Amino acid sequence: MADTATLHYDGKTIELPIVTGTEGERGVDIRELRAKTGLITLDSGYGNTGSTESSIAFIDGEKGILRYRGYPIEQLAAKSRFTETAYLLIFGELPTPAQYTAFRALLTEHQFMHEALHFHFDGFPENAPPMAILSAMVSAAGCFDPALAHPEVDGHFMEASARMMSKVRTIAAASYCKSIGRPINYPRFDLPYTANFLHMMFSLPHKQYEPSPVVVDALDKLLILHADHEQNCSTSTVRMVCSSRASLSAAVSSGINALWGPLHGGANSAVIEMLTHLHQSGESIPSFINRVKTDRTTRLMGFGHRVYRNFDPRAKIIKEACDNVLKALGIHDPLLDLAMQLEEVALHDEFFVSRKLYPNVDFYSGIIMRAIGIPTDMFTVMFALGRMPGWLAHWREYRTSTDARIDRPRQIYQGYTQRDYVAIEKRKESRD
Ligand code: CMC
Repeated sequence: MADTATLHYDGKTIELPIVTGTEGERGVDIRELRAKTGLITLDSGYGNTGSTESSIAFIDGEKGILRYRGYPIEQLAAKSRFTETAYLLIFGELPTPAQYTAFRALLTEHQFMHEALHFHFDGFPENAPPMAILSAMVSAAGCFDPALAHPEVDGHFMEASARMMSKVRTIAAASYCKSIGRPINYPRFDLPYTANFLHMMFSLPHKQYEPSPVVVDALDKLLILHADHEQNCSTSTVRMVCSSRASLSAAVSSGINALWGPLHGGANSAVIEMLTHLHQSGESIPSFINRVKTDRTTRLMGFGHRVYRNFDPRAKIIKEACDNVLKALGIHDPLLDLAMQLEEVALHDEFFVSRKLYPNVDFYSGIIMRAIGIPTDMFTVMFALGRMPGWLAHWREYRTSTDARIDRPRQIYQGYTQRDYVAIEKRKESRD
């Protein structure tokens, strides 16, 4: 295959180098394009734009493949633990026993938030969205924890990433306790990462919560499946903020805000709202599907993906896990029945088939979270906890790269050309 692409423009011919990835993906390197032709590229939504070369995650959207550092997501979901997968993503290799022990010890050591941070929770109004609390508190945590500022400088990234992962988990659980008027639970030293989170969420002063292994495993799997997804909206946000040399906590806090939207991480709670509406209103599935097809502002939440044009491999794993968890816990959730019926109808409907819309990671994840007792408004917070290793890995990759520059896209300006200032008394009221 050719190693350059030829562009003919305005009487000139230029050669642009082709960059080939280790999995055969090819891209045109246009870094010299503007200097040589005066042209820029225009790609709103970045559907065809590679913002970086990365070695963290690989997705083949046509074949439905997702790998972290080369390892298939199916193997990691079946065999790994969230903290081990986090290590893999951040540092590039599965840890040796000694490395894993050291990393877990750091997670435990740094799991407390600064006592002064407890008072910050009191400043939020009742019913404040947990994602708003999480992003604000992560930003605030940066003020108390200088190690979260620029960890690459001192070579302290392992400690900083353990601090971030662990404290974010403690903050997330605390935001839930505060939102329902319960005292904040301190983390325990004897529990691993996921079980400890469940303890901080659900233990009461008079009753310790003892999570069942089924629940811990299901949540751990869920976190693994969310741990990275290459250049998605929130990760690209983290990388962009990082590119300005802002601190790690500033970048992660920005990522949390980007994740919040319903087209991204917020889709998991939007799916449950959609299923609950169908359940409570009695609207039939054909009528809802018809509404999605005709009123184009209504979307089938949990369906479609920018990159996956076949199935989302995470959705397959979650659907199976969902079945297993509900069976193991003896729960019958009518929303699961509805979700399966919706999926069946959509997968055979020309509208969805022709647009290659399949269930994504969020379609079934909410049903698992409901089954293990996580309230709907915490779903996107769970996504954020899961995505934390990915954000950390990308932050580190960006900061340690030798050719990283500040991210600064260009635009094609379509506004007024130059015009002269008009004094206020001479401006017309109506501009029709
Ligand atoms: N329901 C109905 N129509 C849809 C949907 C949907 N869920 N998703 C896409 N379409 C239609 C869209 O209207 C468009 O139709 P047309 O070509 O006639 O205008 C076509 O399919 C292509 O859609 P798009 O919006 O150009 O695709 P995109 O790549 O920009 O958007 C998406 C991807 C995930 C934002 C979108 O599929 C969506 O809104 N899905 C629902 C929200 C959701 O489940 N988000 C979670 C994504 S996975 C978790 C994560 O990574 O955050």
